[in-house]
Amino acid sequence: MNTQLRSSVGRAPVASSRRSLVVRNIAEVTRPAVSTNGKHRAGYPEGTPVVPPQDLPSRPRRNRRSETFRSAIRECIVSPANFILPIFVHEEGSSNIPIASMPGIYRLAYGKNVIDYVAEARSYGVNQVVVFPKTPDHLKTTTAEEAFNKNGLSQRTIRLLKDNFPDLEVYTDVALDPYNSDGHDGIVSDAGVILNDETIEYLCRQAVSQAEAGADVVSPSDMMDGRVGAIRRALDREGFTNVSIMSYTAKYASAYYGPFRDALASAPKPGQAHRRIPPNKKTYQMDPANYREAVREAKADEAEGADIMMVKPGMPYLDVVRLLRETSPLPVAVYHVSGEYAMLKAAAERGWLNEKDAVLEAMTCFRRAGADLILTYYGIEASKWLAGEK
Ligand code: PBG
Repeated sequence: MNTQLRSSVGRAPVASSRRSLVVRNIAEVTRPAVSTNGKHRAGYPEGTPVVPPQDLPSRPRRNRRSETFRSAIRECIVSPANFILPIFVHEEGSSNIPIASMPGIYRLAYGKNVIDYVAEARSYGVNQVVVFPKTPDHLKTTTAEEAFNKNGLSQRTIRLLKDNFPDLEVYTDVALDPYNSDGHDGIVSDAGVILNDETIEYLCRQAVSQAEAGADVVSPSDMMDGRVGAIRRALDREGFTNVSIMSYTAKYASAYYGPFRDALASAPKPGQAHRRIPPNKKTYQMDPANYREAVREAKADEAEGADIMMVKPGMPYLDVVRLLRETSPLPVAVYHVSGEYAMLKAAAERGWLNEKDAVLEAMTCFRRAGADLILTYYGIEASKWLAGEK
């Protein structure tokens, strides 16, 4: 107190020191300072001020006092039942291939390795997967017909999974990028335009071929206008009225997809002299600055028959998750994308974060924001942690 007084003598008193002076004076009037008899409560450190209780009608800390009570009143719970596990599949040899920018994640060799990985996930309660094929370059074309090859890697993987695990929910990705030599989700014209309606024709064939292979849920991630309705009509026409659509409703043109494009070698390719290939996906994926636009996409998807709406990426877009939760009664999914996984892994490897705590916190925050389903590369690890494993 003296120090403060002295510091303001002879100088222009600064606003902050004046404010703290006032606070101190009030405190001295309303409660006694440290007790004069030197007594303090047992177990309190020597020097703890002795004060009368604050007159507080509400003390939120009462509801946080024990783990038992905290877990009794917890507002949202994460369970392996919420997770959808992405799996990358390849056919270039019989071993799994590590993905450098996603430590712990592999391109799985088609066959036994895929089955083993999914069996492990199921043993921890994860019973939903989404399949991403790594297409060899020689099968990629500018029009991506491999996307609807009945015997393509994606279609065979779906069949393999459903044959081995009939009750597994198998999701697919509907977009042309893994099969397109230009690396775009749609067909690119020589002038560099991603052709909307022409692309939709092939997306419909792709979705139908995935449904024929046994897919339970097809997930258009391409962001073409009108694709959900067109896919719904195509599925219904072919008798797949029970196949669901999880739409990537608010999919942003994000820098966080980098490691995924490494995993599938699916980044947009530089154009040749006669073809102008856009270097990014900004003419179809959403601008990260936009919020209201997500409502427009959500209304369209709902009207077109989507069963589930997704927001992607995850953690930087929790406001959009909450927005869709409040805009629509449909289940909401969120994609904890490859770049988010890579960031957590990198910090954990350096010992800068407690990985388990940080990951489970991220999952909980997705639930708090309103997500029912979480697509995450941490699906197996997080489920192990939830089961109490180290
Ligand atoms: C393909 C697709 C992408 C992702 C999911 N589906 C890549 C992209 O749009 O470029 C990204 C997933 C991730 O980063 O984990 N349309």
